Amino acid sequence: MARALELAARGCGQVSPSPLVGCVIVGRGGEVVGEGFYLYERVKHAEVLALEQAGERARGGTAYVSLEPHSHEGRTPPCSDALIRARVARVVAAIEDPNPLVNGRGFEHLRGAGVEVLKGVLACEAARLNEKYIHALRTGRPFVHLKLAASLDGRIATRTGDARWITGEEARVRVHQLRREYDAILVGAGTATKDDPLLTDRSGLARRRPLVRVLLDERLSLTPASKLARTAREAPVMVITAATADPTRVAALEECGVQIVAEASGGRNLRAVLESLARHSIQSVLVEGGANAAGAFLRAELVNKVSFFVAPLILGGDAVGAVGGVGALTIEEAVKLRDVEIERHGHDVEITGYI
Ligand SMILES: NC(=O)c1ccc[n+]([C@@H]2O[C@H](COP(=O)([O-])OP(=O)(O)OC[C@H]3O[C@@H](n4cnc5c(N)ncnc54)[C@H](OP(=O)(O)O)[C@@H]3O)[C@@H](O)[C@H]2O)c1
Repeated sequence: MARALELAARGCGQVSPSPLVGCVIVGRGGEVVGEGFYLYERVKHAEVLALEQAGERARGGTAYVSLEPHSHEGRTPPCSDALIRARVARVVAAIEDPNPLVNGRGFEHLRGAGVEVLKGVLACEAARLNEKYIHALRTGRPFVHLKLAASLDGRIATRTGDARWITGEEARVRVHQLRREYDAILVGAGTATKDDPLLTDRSGLARRRPLVRVLLDERLSLTPASKLARTAREAPVMVITAATADPTRVAALEECGVQIVAEASGGRNLRAVLESLARHSIQSVLVEGGANAAGAFLRAELVNKVSFFVAPLILGGDAVGAVGGVGALTIEEAVKLRDVEIERHGHDVEITGYI
């Protein structure tokens, strides 16, 4: 199963809105006879690719799959049928597929055909691997990962708004790898105005769909001269604004290829913003600040995962604090992380955890 999960991870950036899936077929003698993993563009599922490799040797063997095989007609015929036809004796799965079209039906179909089914092997690891897919299916909203670069004293910009660069080259390379895992990246209007960022995925790694750059901009302050607007035809830009936004400004941005999404709340209702992104087939969002956007997402309890890249420098004085809003009254009220992981990138430290 560990190998199936490793294979599944190879689809990173290339499966959304589908899940990452890996499969290993072990023959009757205990030898690996087939391996496969899913890529959206390749269409064929991990099980089918592994079965094709295994051929006759799959008969009487065991299929290890990182996710429940599907039993309905989708973009491909049911994988449960393929496993039954190949006469595998046993299917070992990590987790059920939360997709309502699957959700236990794949297992039922296999059992009904006399295939032994075992589930729950490396379940936590498998659920973590597909955390974005699972969250989006269960809630109807994208998975939200808040990422900020902060100084030792917890500031994300100097008192003049200068934030380039708080962290070093290695940490910035890591951030581009992180961007590749997400369907969308989001910032507040303050960041767009002060930094004029590009917000693209420059990991250099393959991705299936371009990273959608989302801006919370109730007052529609983005200009056609900004880097975001000027590159909107190369990589999508979506601006969430108010229904009352100035039609001349809307037209000028649309002329650049910017997609304007008018929200009744102007983007202040972040639950509605996320639901709107889900309707645009966005399953995961990396929120990259600034302080007010970060505070608003945390306050609305819409953040699933947090990464702070802490750099060994001190900004002091009136430098911009990492998270805006009123903040916690007591330590007891603080937003606390669990399953914390710490990694070093050059002189900087990445602290990641779940809320
Ligand atoms: N180190 C880092 O990781 C990092 C990352 C990003 C930014 N920064 C720095 O942070 C600073 C900008 O932070 P900021 O707090 O001023 O700006 P921000 O959080 O980027 O943007 C806040 C603005 O977004 C608009 N907005 C629309 N809907 C919103 C909502 N639901 N919640 C919150 N805001 C919403 C509002 O604009 P209106 O008030 O105009 O309506 C609000 O003032 C810059 O200096 C930038 O360099 C640092």
